[in-house]
Amino acid sequence: MVDDIIVVEDLRKTYVQTKRKWLLFKVGEERTEALKGISFTVEAGEIVALLGPNGSGKSTTTKILTGILHPDGGSATVLGYTPWKREKAYLQQIGVIFGQRSALIWDVPVEDTFLLYKDIYGVGDTEYEETLEFLDQHLKIKELLPVQARKLSLGQRMRCELGLILLHRPKVIFLDEPTIGIDVWTREKIKEMLKRVREEWGTTIIYTTHQMSDIEGLVDRVILLTEGEIRYDGPIRELMRSVPYKYLSVEFAEDVPDLGYEIIEQAGKYVKYRVPRREAKKAVENVLKHEIVDLSLEEPDLEAVLKEIVRG
Ligand SMILES: Nc1ncnc2c1ncn2[C@@H]1O[C@H](COP(=O)(O)OP(=O)(O)O)[C@@H](O)[C@H]1O
Ligand SMILES: [Mg+2]
Repeated sequence: MVDDIIVVEDLRKTYVQTKRKWLLFKVGEERTEALKGISFTVEAGEIVALLGPNGSGKSTTTKILTGILHPDGGSATVLGYTPWKREKAYLQQIGVIFGQRSALIWDVPVEDTFLLYKDIYGVGDTEYEETLEFLDQHLKIKELLPVQARKLSLGQRMRCELGLILLHRPKVIFLDEPTIGIDVWTREKIKEMLKRVREEWGTTIIYTTHQMSDIEGLVDRVILLTEGEIRYDGPIRELMRSVPYKYLSVEFAEDVPDLGYEIIEQAGKYVKYRVPRREAKKAVENVLKHEIVDLSLEEPDLEAVLKEIVRG
């Protein structure tokens, strides 16, 4: 489509590691097929979550699309550019965060890194001030600008990292596990900021995370990778419905009876059953034949859905 900002076709990547004996003789190769030919497109202004278990190829995808890695096959364009050619005009229009790494210069105040980026990206003084003002509404970064980067807490650091990559108002941003180890308050701030950024600038966002609460209510669409292949690509809501189970939580007034459903959590007289979606009503009826204190029937949340899908 005309509005497709990211077009990925049959993208492949195999890592080859040479095995050596006594660091000298090559005795073989270890090959990891990290991407087995994935295809997808993303439209301007979409927020897409890239999900999947460890090792499923999420970071490899992000690295290829941000020009850090060359693929072995297939093609990808972002904003019409081939990312791994690393053209300046391309890199000027994107922003990327790898949660494990920091773009901030460690020993100087945060502001110094900001001013360096301002220069590199050619952001004018007025635009810089306006953008800072806008980013400060959710990220509260102004108060952090005078602080040495190494003195920041993890949450403060991430607020700065996000502010930094947004300074030049990129058209596309890639976030690879930005919230690992970060407190709930900061995660909410990041989410609010991303919503505003899309609203105000129409930014396209590719967001990889393990923290399901980060993306609930934020993303339009989920791409689920398992072992280098796309397992699901579509709206979150349909993904949720694709799981043929519901969860029935009950606090019994008596000892927990054996109802024949799979128990996934239990503590004393509290129990959580996993019941087939079609039998949910009957399960509730069965439970009500016993003395209970409380009961609730829940749809699996995103985290549970992913576990169900991955376990097959
Ligand atoms: N530099 C590398 N050398 C060899 N294998 C790698 C390298 N980077 C990633 N891999 C392997 O490729 C697969 C996909 O990794 P990755 O893209 O990092 O997955 P994810 O981000 O989903 O956890 C994994 O099996 C991983 O071990
Ligand atoms: Mg990763």
